[in-house]
Amino acid sequence: MSKRVRKAVLPVAGLGTRVLPGAKTTPKEMLNIFDRPILSYIVEEGRAAGIEHFVFVTGRGKGAIEDYFDHHPELESQLQAKGKTEILADVLRDLARPGEMSFVRQMAPLGLGHAVWCARDIIGDEPFAVILPDMLMAADTPALAQAVAAHGQVGGNIIVVEPVPEGQAHMYGIVALGQKGGDGRDGRLNRMTGMVEKPAPGTAPSNLFISGRYILQPEIFAILETQPRGAGGEIQLTDAMATLMGRQDFHALEYEGTTYDCGDKIGLLRANVAFALRRPDVAEAARAAIRALL
Ligand code: G1P
Repeated sequence: MSKRVRKAVLPVAGLGTRVLPGAKTTPKEMLNIFDRPILSYIVEEGRAAGIEHFVFVTGRGKGAIEDYFDHHPELESQLQAKGKTEILADVLRDLARPGEMSFVRQMAPLGLGHAVWCARDIIGDEPFAVILPDMLMAADTPALAQAVAAHGQVGGNIIVVEPVPEGQAHMYGIVALGQKGGDGRDGRLNRMTGMVEKPAPGTAPSNLFISGRYILQPEIFAILETQPRGAGGEIQLTDAMATLMGRQDFHALEYEGTTYDCGDKIGLLRANVAFALRRPDVAEAARAAIRALL
């Protein structure tokens, strides 16, 4: 029986150069999707998957993240005094539960692998999730919950993947699969045989890219500790996972849902439209507003 996944690492130290100038003073993970920051949706997805502790790996200028999940006494008492109870409830909804969140500084932009390694002492010796907050996933069963369910089924390490847009394989981590359809879930869960970070054009081992949700075993930390720099001169999580694959099982899960890359301006725009349309309370008004613009 595999151990339950209770903790998640959220790497949030990146500068967000693809979403400047907005990300100059607002952490890119705090940019709004309709009426709340990207991280509000991400934490909601984590909680829905059973995550009890979120470890944010942060950096300079990211203080707004801690403040967002904390009380704002002045704002709360003003809303209370003015009888704006619905707005107040909406604000309070995203508060961290006591002890639910930790914040660790990465201190140097050494890559995703290094960011995950920075969380090692808080994760300890148990399986954990990694959520890349840039990748916002809309799904009936939240993406991470699908990964956790797959982990419950086959154990080991689970990597959420999806088909890579034409000509973009060199921008992502790409997985190689064994024989397809072996491990259930309508052929969506398959044993992996390899992975490569940002393959040179024409060399990708499949059309499936690592899209931002992982369930990993704690043995990854010892590998990350001595992981040499890889693609882009950064310490890559993909390289450490490829080493761990020599010792443990890895499965790729093609999740059911739609991914929006919010680290990109058009992706951010698409997410804004899509998430407004998914909200029952505003969908109709949003649809009318969008139609009027077209
Ligand atoms: C990271 C991962 C990569 C993954 C991608 C998804 O790359 O290293 O494997 O496919 O996120 O967004 P980055 O976006 O940091 O270059």
